[in-house]
Amino acid sequence: MLQDKNIVIGITGSIAAFKIPLLVRLLKKEGARIKVMMTPAARDFVAPLTLSTLSEHPVLIEPFDPDDGSWNSHVDLGRWADLLVVAPVSANTMAKMATGIADNFFMTVCLSAKCPVMFAPAMDLDMFRHPATQKNIEILQSYGHIMIDPAVGELASGLHGEGRMEEPENILAAIQGHFTGSGTLAGKKAMVTAGPTHEAIDPVRFIGNHSSGLMGFSIAEELASRGAEVTLISGPVNLQAKHPGIKRIDVVSAEEMYKACRRSFTKADITVMSAAVADFRPESPATSKIKKSKATLSIPLEQTKDILAELGKIKKEDQFLIGFALETDDEESFARQKLESKNLDLIILNSLNDKGAGFKSETNKITIFDRSGKIEEFGLKLKSEVAKDIVDKIVDHIK
Ligand code: CTP
Repeated sequence: MLQDKNIVIGITGSIAAFKIPLLVRLLKKEGARIKVMMTPAARDFVAPLTLSTLSEHPVLIEPFDPDDGSWNSHVDLGRWADLLVVAPVSANTMAKMATGIADNFFMTVCLSAKCPVMFAPAMDLDMFRHPATQKNIEILQSYGHIMIDPAVGELASGLHGEGRMEEPENILAAIQGHFTGSGTLAGKKAMVTAGPTHEAIDPVRFIGNHSSGLMGFSIAEELASRGAEVTLISGPVNLQAKHPGIKRIDVVSAEEMYKACRRSFTKADITVMSAAVADFRPESPATSKIKKSKATLSIPLEQTKDILAELGKIKKEDQFLIGFALETDDEESFARQKLESKNLDLIILNSLNDKGAGFKSETNKITIFDRSGKIEEFGLKLKSEVAKDIVDKIVDHIK
């Protein structure tokens, strides 16, 4: 996919630099030509020899060699690149990139490169959240630079939070998405939920449902193939996301799905909630296996959060929110009620009365309702085809 693409990787002084040799290998395997440049501080975190061996090019750090006066042309390197990926980017280098400081070879390349620029921040939670850093991110994005969002997790400081550089596999996916993502939804972020949730009864049993996740995965693939950057939040399923533009987050319970959705939702332009979330969960799951000593067993249940309704409450004007309604009776009236009560832009009705529609099937039959009262009914189709119809509708509405 990256055959003959020229990519410059810029490494700055951050502990996450140790992951870049793997990124270089992954990119080379995809056929890209790689040149690596480093800030002087980055040398302390990863050996230039490792990177020059993997990239098959000398690593560029200094503007010239003081012994023989030979120099590295920052302009040539900037012109050679189809893409500049600054990863990891420290708070310090982001500040310099935002203000146009050019005090070393690396910064002169950043300033003279005419190609698209991606940057993958890596820093501690409080540094990332500082208004100065956030302002610098806004400035870089206003130049058209693309941020590869940092992940949430354990940080080198021992703290836990946002600021971890995204893993090399996901940076690769973002780069691939950049080169392929020139479709109608390029630049849009989408979030999709898929699959069932499992609610623990005890350590070995759960309450679940028959959702295979296929509808949600098909929608995620379709959104990604039109250029959207997709976060797919999936319950336990036996499916693989194929498109490199899809970032998958696996969850088990409704509560975990809720938390993952809350984290991603604020950034999503388009959200499609196709998961079959459990409406109830055991009030207090047993900590050890329940034995069959009694003749009968009652398990008190409590309601889970309605994730879609919660997102509907915080949805902003420019966010587009789509829900599903799975009904057996009085379908149209329930679908319309859910469209209103959950503050949705579209609702997709699946009737369990339609043959070939629903959970375990490869096919589905849907009706789409919008806020203006328009209803569109579709025939029985493969779920991949249904996903196309749904995404066409989304594109029509957000245009
Ligand atoms: N949904 C959700 N969180 C829940 C339950 C449902 O986000 N706890 C979402 C589903 O992903 C779907 C929509 O809400 O997009 C409708 O789900 P459905 O099961 O049809 O309806 P419910 O709202 O659960 O209502 P009821 O079970 O009473 O029909």
